[in-house]
Parts: sequence; structure tokens; C-alpha cells
Amino acid sequence: MEVAVPKIHFIERDGNKKTVEAPVGLSLLEVAHKYAIDIEGACEGSLACSTCHVIISPEWFDKLEQAKDEEEDMLDLAFGLTKTSRLGCQIIVDNSLDGLEVRLPGATRNIMFKN
Ligand code: FES
Repeated sequence: MEVAVPKIHFIERDGNKKTVEAPVGLSLLEVAHKYAIDIEGACEGSLACSTCHVIISPEWFDKLEQAKDEEEDMLDLAFGLTKTSRLGCQIIVDNSLDGLEVRLPGATRNIMFKN
């Protein structure tokens, strides 16, 4: 039986949309690293930083499992926090996330310069 791999759309800081196949069981941070998407993740998922901050598209935010208190505490320290911010290392890919759209903080929708 063929198992479909969930697809995740990352909107990078320059506004480019990168759609990748995300293996089930990896965190969004691990998926980003696998495809050289620029999310730092300084503590490698141990909830000791907020450098894996990502912004979930509003239509997806409520479909995700809620953040734990520890994640909320770290998120409070994130630069450019939004109502739909999460830590990328805490979101684990499963099939229900197929089509998820995630924006990197600092990304803009109107791009004036590209190189
Ligand atoms: S990588 Fe540090 S909290 Fe996610």
C-alpha cells in the first residue's frame, strides 16, 4: 500500500514558498533542516530557546495540538511573536498536517528585492 507523505508549505523570509514532503514523526524543525530551510533551532528541540519560532497560518492554527506551558513560556521570548506563533521543534508531523502552511518570522508577503 502506498503511503502518502504529508506536504508542508514553508514561506521563507524572502516570501518564497517551498513545499516539501515531511516524513511522519519528524518535528517541523527537523523537516526544515532536512530541506535547508532557515530555522535555527539552537537547542535542538529541548525547549530551551525560541529560535525555532514559526508562524502557523491562521486556518491551521486551531487544528494543531495546543502548546504546552513550557512551549508558551519560551514563545513569550520569541522575537516578532504573533497569535499563531509556535515553536517548530514541538510540532510533530503526522498525516493530518498534510497541506500545513508555516511562515518563518520576518517573512513579508510583498517582495521588493530579490537576488
Ligand atoms: S529548538 Fe529550541 S525551543 Fe525549539
